[in-house]
Amino acid sequence: MPKPTVFVTRKIAAEALDRLTAHAQVETWEQEDPPPQDVLLEKAARVEGLLTLLTDKIDAVLIDSAPNLKVISQMAVGFDNIDIAAATRKGIPVGNTPGVLTETTADFAWALMMAAARRVVEADKEVREGIWRAWGPDVLTGYDVYGATLGIIGFGRIGQAMARRARGFNMRILYNDPHCGHEAGVETGAECVSLDELLAQSDFVTLHTYLSDETYHLIGREEFAKMKPTAVLVNTARGPVVDPDALNWALRSGKIAAAALDVTEPEPIPRDSPLLSLKNIVIAPHIASASKATRLRMAQMAVDNLLAGLQGERLPNCANPQVYG
Ligand code: GLV
Repeated sequence: MPKPTVFVTRKIAAEALDRLTAHAQVETWEQEDPPPQDVLLEKAARVEGLLTLLTDKIDAVLIDSAPNLKVISQMAVGFDNIDIAAATRKGIPVGNTPGVLTETTADFAWALMMAAARRVVEADKEVREGIWRAWGPDVLTGYDVYGATLGIIGFGRIGQAMARRARGFNMRILYNDPHCGHEAGVETGAECVSLDELLAQSDFVTLHTYLSDETYHLIGREEFAKMKPTAVLVNTARGPVVDPDALNWALRSGKIAAAALDVTEPEPIPRDSPLLSLKNIVIAPHIASASKATRLRMAQMAVDNLLAGLQGERLPNCANPQVYG
């Protein structure tokens, strides 16, 4: 039997790739940048399996022009780049990598929150540029995290991991989620509240929702206006959950104190974005899950999903289980 054909849209860990090549005929896109859409379309039209990243647009056009495609395996927990309805219609299971990146992502969200609250990036810059001259009572004063109120929007795995961290910082914890009554809420003493209440009461607001029609620009002018002028916003979810123009307005007009983003709209953030000229924002290039160990686990999990799909077995982690009826 010939091995099934697979296109892997970027270089992944060798340990994971080797497992894949043992069972499939693999072509890998070797460049740093994502494959252009025409290349993706052309590859998808020929292969049985795709291993994708969140930078690949897997839309209905691509899915409908891929007659042999049996499985799409995304190396990420989020899959808003994939038209799930189109894949489901064609009976194609879509894999993702939940769980393995939860703590790594929460660690980074926490790091961003601390960095924005205590102005770590600005401080580093001042030292390097020789701006810092001497210890001073007002030099780079920021906001306390310990004992403050944390508002978590989206109380899934990563939101809950933030709540567990917040306990160690003696924080009051609020969350907003379509479902209240999460066990982790009880364990961590987190209170389920309305979005308005969360925005009004939190010193730190951290976003952990999926991107969907409901969460697109969830945080806009109206929401910023409800926040404390001393509040810090952290986004490690998806860029478009926050309206970037509204964020720029909120940071410039003092509606909130600071922000820290791992994700932006669009990505990469344009070099001329007004956000880049602000001091009270920290921006990272979508690296919250980027620990060496976690990226290896994600690659292995994506390969597990891909191999299962190629063999006609149920994916261990499937984003559209409805394909199984
Ligand atoms: C990263 O953003 C992911 O969805 O895994």
